[in-house]
Amino acid sequence: MKKLRKVIEIIDPVYVMEGAGVRLKRSIATQKLDYLDPFLLFDHFGSDDPEDYILGFPMHPHRGIETVTYLLDGVVNHKDSMGNSGILEGDDVQWMTSGSGIIHEEMPRPYNGKMEGFQLWVNLPAKIKMTTPRYQEIKSSKIPEIKSEDGTIVKIIAGEMRGVKGAVTDIFADPIYLDVNIPAGSSFEQPIKPGHTVFAYVFQGEGTFEDLDHKSQEQEIIIQATKLAIFGDGDYIKAKSKDTPFRFLLISGKPLNEPIVRYGPFVMNTSDEIEQALKDLQNNEFVK
Ligand code: FE2
Repeated sequence: MKKLRKVIEIIDPVYVMEGAGVRLKRSIATQKLDYLDPFLLFDHFGSDDPEDYILGFPMHPHRGIETVTYLLDGVVNHKDSMGNSGILEGDDVQWMTSGSGIIHEEMPRPYNGKMEGFQLWVNLPAKIKMTTPRYQEIKSSKIPEIKSEDGTIVKIIAGEMRGVKGAVTDIFADPIYLDVNIPAGSSFEQPIKPGHTVFAYVFQGEGTFEDLDHKSQEQEIIIQATKLAIFGDGDYIKAKSKDTPFRFLLISGKPLNEPIVRYGPFVMNTSDEIEQALKDLQNNEFVK
């Protein structure tokens, strides 16, 4: 019999300042939750007040990780040390593999007065931490979407749902990254490989990830936006909405079980490798 994954912890995001002065909500890479192998950081940015983000993230380095930006509203202008530059717009995604090193700039701008999105950091295993940098940038029109009869809409950024493959492929962590939007009074199920880490970031409305019989439903734990729910092991997750729509990101990946030494935007396996990254940066040898 397939085993339902139960929520084992609910995390309240904390406000932090990042970049040149961007106020954002952080759920992973905090005092409470350092990392959730293979995920190293999870940020939710966005505000109706451009003062909260307009200074953005000027040129900064990354090594040893992947940064994943999924934008709901607004625009992010970006450019990097590989000579790339571009614009992320609403519902676009960028999956950047920093590998041996990239220096880039990410500058959020409002569109119709709005700006909102997410950044996830995914760890790379020791054997490919120093791989050649690359990125996959996917326009919203290229992100597969499944609309169910009950009105549930799922955007498949990575991973697979009902045989439909996500837009981003060839990622070591074998990730699932879904944007799930369930209308009131509906439900949704998604298989997750046993042993993989999985969390849901609830950012609109409320709902439950339990599957109780009718009698015990008053004991159901309702999770309201904005919170991060971590699941225990099993084969699948189930989400149910009540009287409101329920929207969340569902993110899973294979844990690496390797030592983690982090220093700001560098995440390596040893402190020697961190020192090397700092030296490379000083000596202008960071970008290979
Ligand atoms: Fe960055």
